[in-house]
Amino acid sequence: MPRIKAVVLGSGGLVAQRLLQRLAQHPWFETHAVAGSPGRVGQPLNDLVWRLPEPRPILPDLKVIALDDAATIERCRAEGVGVVFSALPTEVARRVEPMWARAGMPVLSNAAAYRRVEGVPLVVPEVNPTDLKGLTETNSPLACATNCTLLPLLLPLAALDEAFGLLSWTMRSEQALSGGGYGLIDEVDRTGECPTDIPGEAEKTEAEFRHLLNWEGEATLSCRRVRRTDGHHVFVEASFERELELSNVTHALSAWSERVTPRHLPSAPDNAIMLVDAVDPIRHVNANGSHVTTEGDPSVDLNLGMAVVVGNMEVDRHRVRFEALSHNTLRGAAGGVVYLAELAVDMGLLRPTRAQG
Ligand SMILES: NC(=O)c1ccc[n+]([C@@H]2O[C@H](COP(=O)([O-])OP(=O)(O)OC[C@H]3O[C@@H](n4cnc5c(N)ncnc54)[C@H](OP(=O)(O)O)[C@@H]3O)[C@@H](O)[C@H]2O)c1
Repeated sequence: MPRIKAVVLGSGGLVAQRLLQRLAQHPWFETHAVAGSPGRVGQPLNDLVWRLPEPRPILPDLKVIALDDAATIERCRAEGVGVVFSALPTEVARRVEPMWARAGMPVLSNAAAYRRVEGVPLVVPEVNPTDLKGLTETNSPLACATNCTLLPLLLPLAALDEAFGLLSWTMRSEQALSGGGYGLIDEVDRTGECPTDIPGEAEKTEAEFRHLLNWEGEATLSCRRVRRTDGHHVFVEASFERELELSNVTHALSAWSERVTPRHLPSAPDNAIMLVDAVDPIRHVNANGSHVTTEGDPSVDLNLGMAVVVGNMEVDRHRVRFEALSHNTLRGAAGGVVYLAELAVDMGLLRPTRAQG
């Protein structure tokens, strides 16, 4: 199959560069154009400051195009663009994503602007893959990936809810600086101060959890920023209808993960949930579901940083305590939307488009 031409919305941001990194050698997609904020338009992609820890991959020789110019959007459509990945700030996404979608190019978004909006699928491949069908049931195809903090909470609780009936949960998070974009990393470098509040994060996480699992129990959560580059770490306590034993809990997590992980997709982790004795946010952040490495290149190993690592498990009758970790810009952002696009190809919803003329 020829690779599907992709446009990346956002050029120099952390998620935009994660997208460029993932697409550099992707077997199914290739970067056809990169659309950036007004100050970037016309700049060669290869001249932009590279902000990720791994070396800059070989990127196509492109200049940044405008995000919201109707003629540019139409040209991309005519050139056969088959998918648009958005790494825009929410307010910019609200205005710009529909412009690309209305031109008929499916948009897969990391932004919060259209999450939980009627008619826009909000999808985690292991949890509600079939909801992605909604992508092509409209003339303005748009689907969203979830908030990054949700993933280490959602995957284990989805598995345990199915097995034991989830009644209530509490969560506190320790979230990496990269979750606040490159501006926050620069600010902490400059001032030496790390702001700990993350306004709106707990509300988004809870609402998306309820939406995805269609769940109505009691939840209490708090989210806090910590001084670490990557990886969102959550501390969860949950109660269940049925009485539990440690062996049942670990078996339920492994069996669910074995059943739902779409391993044939290039970005799928080997296991969506990787069980460890104790979660270590530095050592486990790049886990791929079967092994951990502090090295590796996500442009080559597409499943690096795509697993949710779960450990520190304690079980007391109807209650479970655990910690979980996920890479916020890989699994929680760029990796997550490319994974969605792979699922869409697998479901026959995305395919290469011929250029016109
Ligand atoms: N970081 C994470 O862990 C994470 C996880 C999940 C979701 N997200 C979401 O992904 C999106 C991007 O996050 P990020 O971490 O990449 O942010 P970032 O590092 O601050 O980058 C901001 C991005 O927005 C683009 N942009 C376009 N128009 C803009 C404008 N008018 N003003 C400012 N920026 C503009 C920038 O493009 P140019 O480079 O062309 O200026 C840049 O790519 C956000 O919606 C965020 O909520 C982030």
